Amino acid sequence: MSESTSTKPRSLAEIFNASGSHFDEVTPYVWGPAGAATVKALNLRPGDHVLDACAGSGASALPAAVAVAPSGQVLAVDLAADLLALGKAAAERQALRNIEFRTGDVTKMRFDRRFDAVCCAYGVFFLPSMDSDVTTLLRAVRPGGRFAFTVWHDDALYDFTKAFLEAVTARSDGPGAFGGSADGQPHPITRIDTEAKISAWASSLGAVDVTTTVERIRVPRSDDFGWALVLGSGLRGHLLDLDAGHIADVRDRFLALLTERGISEIKCDSLIVSGRTQDSGDSD
Ligand SMILES: C[S@@+](CC[C@H](N)C(=O)[O-])C[C@H]1O[C@@H](n2cnc3c(N)ncnc32)[C@H](O)[C@@H]1O
Repeated sequence: MSESTSTKPRSLAEIFNASGSHFDEVTPYVWGPAGAATVKALNLRPGDHVLDACAGSGASALPAAVAVAPSGQVLAVDLAADLLALGKAAAERQALRNIEFRTGDVTKMRFDRRFDAVCCAYGVFFLPSMDSDVTTLLRAVRPGGRFAFTVWHDDALYDFTKAFLEAVTARSDGPGAFGGSADGQPHPITRIDTEAKISAWASSLGAVDVTTTVERIRVPRSDDFGWALVLGSGLRGHLLDLDAGHIADVRDRFLALLTERGISEIKCDSLIVSGRTQDSGDSD
């Protein structure tokens, strides 16, 4: 999500660690259903080894571990140790012993094609060099292995995010929801927000048998969910430097804007692009 109104750059680890329990308030509505759909797109089999990049609190890592049990393994990597701790607790509650939760920057890790599959839900657009970092993720998978990446579809969250940024800046002429990245370039998210764009993008990175599906995710608008989605997502970054009184003002302004604009459901539609990495029989 846009970082354009932040007063100073904040690390993603700081933002997502701060999202804490609010992150999992969003899980039953958005991260959970999307994570399950992401794993379904991977067509996992028992015994598979899976890398979940940007795993958060385990929305896709947990169902992946169920799908590959008992002999398969999942490695769930995220910058935010606090979110991984939530995932670890959930794995313990479900008696899943085949997931490792590892804190770190997935773009700095080398995996040498040792996985059968890689997934990344709502994470690729946070990677600093999206194309080369995703190419590196694909190289974590054996030739002919599977991948699935999940991102926001089209104008999902657009009205929601726009209202939030207006509430933060107290201005209505600010940047659009995904107005730009810190360097003034269009946000990478806008390069992969339709079926055609994301399919072409995945193919351009060398993927084959590429398929994209739209996952319709609509959540009835309520004050509780609306604010949980702010606090439990990258939007949280815009609040890190504000005191409690200022945050309360932003919340009131934001929720009033959603009401004024007649936003009765939050559009969280998502795209899941999946396919295979090339094997030796595929031509370049
Ligand atoms: C919107 S959350 C999605 C989490 C999870 N995949 C889900 O769908 O619930 C994005 C996550 O990406 C993580 N992230 C962003 N850049 C990362 C990186 N370079 N390495 C590891 N994790 C990263 C953030 O810490 C955050 O937890």
